[in-house]
Amino acid sequence: MSDPKRPHDDASRGTSLSRRAFFRGAGVVAAGSLVGEAAHAAAHASSLEPVRIEGSVELELEINGARQKVTVEPRTTLLNTLRNHCSPPLTGTKSVCERGSCGACTVHLDGKPVYSCMTLAVDAVGRKVTTIEGLATQGELTELQSAFCAHDGSMCGFCTPGFVMSISACLERNPAASLEEIQRSCSGNLCRCGTYPQVFEAALAAGRAMRAKGGK
Ligand code: FES
Ligand code: FES
Repeated sequence: MSDPKRPHDDASRGTSLSRRAFFRGAGVVAAGSLVGEAAHAAAHASSLEPVRIEGSVELELEINGARQKVTVEPRTTLLNTLRNHCSPPLTGTKSVCERGSCGACTVHLDGKPVYSCMTLAVDAVGRKVTTIEGLATQGELTELQSAFCAHDGSMCGFCTPGFVMSISACLERNPAASLEEIQRSCSGNLCRCGTYPQVFEAALAAGRAMRAKGGK
């Protein structure tokens, strides 16, 4: 079964720039190339013409509601971009396995959870990226974040941002999500400390709190 947090295939994703297009063809783009280069490549995404970009490219990403320009190589993952190329660095998204097996790097792309270690930064162009730093509003934690604190949902805390991102997407869709639905939503997240029972308690409590507030 496919993991919903892994990048979708190019066709279903409807993204502006296909991964396949990036890795084939010939041509050179010098370091410091502009957003326009990526836009040019994006314009060809739906065609079968090979597009190849080498060196560094400047991308404009929308992260947590703010536009940010980053200069990265085409192969740079969204995870690497968030942690090492943003200003300020967004280190709440954790880097653990970097191969799509632990979920610590989970962020939202257009509201859907994805592994940022398995997503290229260029694939995030034109999409809304939300990281753990973007959930709280003016310093006020979400119901889920508060519930994680209240229910002791983390020990070392390294997996916590990923769990929160996965489960928050589930509860945003359906605050009345069942335990089974919540478990499924974070089935791609691993906790080496074994806090699963507290995580699920927190998620159910957050759902109740969201419903009591009339939705979110
Ligand atoms: S760091 Fe991305 S899934 Fe583990
Ligand atoms: S709280 Fe330590 S890995 Fe989950």
